[in-house]
Amino acid sequence: MSNGIIQAAYVIAALLFIFSLRGLSNQESAKSGNIYGMIGMAIALIAAVASIKGGLHWIIIAMVIGAAIGLYLAKKVEMTQMPELVALLHSFVGMAAVLVGFNSFLAHNFQGANGELTVHLVEIFVGIFIGAVTFSGSIVAFGKLNGRISSKPLSIPNKHYWNLAAIVVSIILMFVFVKCESGIAATISLLIMTIIAFVFGFHLVASIGGADMPVVISMLNSYSGWAAAAAGFMLGNDLLIVTGALVGSSGAILSYIMCKAMNRSFISVIAGGFGSDGSAASSSDEEQGEYREMQPAEVAQTLKEARSVIIVPGYGMAVAQAQGAVSNITEKLRAMDIEVRFGIHPVAGRLPGHMNVLLAEAKVPYDIVLEMDEINDDFPDTDVVWVIGANDTVNPAAEEDPNSPIAGMPVLEVWKAKTVVISKRSMNTGYAGVQNPLFFKENSYMLFGDAKDSVEKVLQNL
Ligand code: TAP
Repeated sequence: MSNGIIQAAYVIAALLFIFSLRGLSNQESAKSGNIYGMIGMAIALIAAVASIKGGLHWIIIAMVIGAAIGLYLAKKVEMTQMPELVALLHSFVGMAAVLVGFNSFLAHNFQGANGELTVHLVEIFVGIFIGAVTFSGSIVAFGKLNGRISSKPLSIPNKHYWNLAAIVVSIILMFVFVKCESGIAATISLLIMTIIAFVFGFHLVASIGGADMPVVISMLNSYSGWAAAAAGFMLGNDLLIVTGALVGSSGAILSYIMCKAMNRSFISVIAGGFGSDGSAASSSDEEQGEYREMQPAEVAQTLKEARSVIIVPGYGMAVAQAQGAVSNITEKLRAMDIEVRFGIHPVAGRLPGHMNVLLAEAKVPYDIVLEMDEINDDFPDTDVVWVIGANDTVNPAAEEDPNSPIAGMPVLEVWKAKTVVISKRSMNTGYAGVQNPLFFKENSYMLFGDAKDSVEKVLQNL
């Protein structure tokens, strides 16, 4: 294929990616957004493969293996495991940037004017740095999301000085690398920086507590975009630069929006848990007094007597796949002339919009599904709030305890309702690892059991 056609294909693919992002910004157009993205990626892949001179069979073998693994994972993955998968995929982008960087350094003889060589060396160095941070950070995020690594923040003494030292030493190494250009000294400085960057990425994400993980995932998404852009510079591939920049900037914007929604400072989250000393989490996971229980029949009776009900779903509803049962009970209550609405926290579940998607799939009408800001003032006038598998997002400690790891995060003020029923399996903590004083309030009742079972039993009793 001629170079002109390949460049034209790249421009079309880049435009389709922009349309894709535009489509994904709205629920109704999200499907077409996905389709634009898929067509763009297919064009990009064909053009990129067509531009290769020699060794095509290796590329095709790698693509077939990659596509098979990708298809298998996409079919197998549960909705609740999506963030883990995304974190893992980010780590691949990071590792790819590291490998491309080392390849550019080792396999090529640099030519061109002195200035050009310096720019190229800086590209390699920065590309490997971003790639290595993205790789190890994403692996830690993956571990935290699937529970293999504790969600509590790692807190080593003077952690911010260590981070600063890592950056300063890396900058010094960059000067050494650029000055030496090639040979043993340049190679060693590149290797040392890579190790520092791996450790830095690990520490950066390990220092962030569970409650801030949503922001971390979108930050890593952004980093992976910059890593891809860096690889694009090293390979001289314009499409990779444009795509990387799109992912990098959209990830940064999303992180900023999420920080605002959770009342977190953007800088403190990206600086690795700045402002949290991590000590509060250890003391607040104990139980805090007596709690009361209700049986499904009593919950059914309480709901029957109510005039207004707000259902607050969370991660547990998704794990139990209880959305269908929740939808049925909603219909039943509405048929009994009881007002039913849903209160959705911006980070309920494990990915943005998680609850909205599940409820929409289960055919709960859009107009009774309200965002936190729209419904938070209505709790004092509500008879019954039914919390189904949510925990951190309804934790009053966020407002009442300045030492809590989730202090300052806006929460659904469910405890202001007349009666609160909480469906979960045990008294265990939620994702952030902090105990919830809501369970011990006088108007709170626990309904223990798997969310789907509980909702179905209540429905039978209705
Ligand atoms: P969580 O605070 O994680 O609480 C979920 C609760 O569901 C748990 O306490 C658990 O209690 C219960 N549960 C689990 N399986 C259940 C089942 N089968 N049946 C009934 N209950 C079950 O959830 P949330 O309130 O939705 O808050 C979300 C948390 O995840 C926040 O901390 C947020 O920062 C974090 N997070 C969010 C995102 C995004 S973007 N949304 C991404 C990553 C992390 P038991 O074990 O006692 O059943």
